[in-house]
Amino acid sequence: MSQKVAVDALRYISVLLLFRFMNSLGTAFSFISNDAVAKIQILENYRCGANGQMYFTVQSMVKYEVDHRLVDLEKRGNHYESGCRTLLRLHRALKWLQLFLEKLRVASDDSKTSVLCSEAYNDSLANYHPWIVRKAAAIAFYMLPSRASFFEIMNMGPSEKVVATLGDALPLISKTYDITQELYNQHCFLDLP
Ligand SMILES: *[C@@H]1O[C@H](CO)[C@@H](O)[C@H](O)[C@H]1NC(C)=O
Repeated sequence: MSQKVAVDALRYISVLLLFRFMNSLGTAFSFISNDAVAKIQILENYRCGANGQMYFTVQSMVKYEVDHRLVDLEKRGNHYESGCRTLLRLHRALKWLQLFLEKLRVASDDSKTSVLCSEAYNDSLANYHPWIVRKAAAIAFYMLPSRASFFEIMNMGPSEKVVATLGDALPLISKTYDITQELYNQHCFLDLP
């Protein structure tokens, strides 16, 4: 995957995986997926807007918004919904998804999905969520089914096939994550308010 398609890849992964994995499982992930949908919509609006061609890759978006001072580095600026800030939220959610799917991939059939999911969450998104959201997440995750039923609900064929599909998808997720991480790090954008 070339760096140029990073935004497209992120969109692809966000849309396909977040929707497929999360929405099919009902409410347990809705606090993550609802937010992701809203953030994707914001980026979508930029892409369809007057400067849409600047929003085709992560790199061009960052360059455009930096050059035009469209990114708030502090709270309560004029650009609280910049593309850079919005993508950062998706980027953090992607880390959770990456950790969770990797855990699911290597886990045994009788593993508790709820534990895998909350470990992944605690190591990623939880650091950015207020206490009340973390509590709600813990309760929602607690209701997740076993790994075997989880795979069944995903409806992607037998468990070996799901594991193989995850094995194909995870390097792409991780590459996408790393490209954005590196770029944001260079710009000191990893803590955008
Ligand atoms: C995740 O963090 C919550 C709250 O800090 C804690 O109660 C829970 O046990 C943690 N989950 C795992 C699997 O470590």
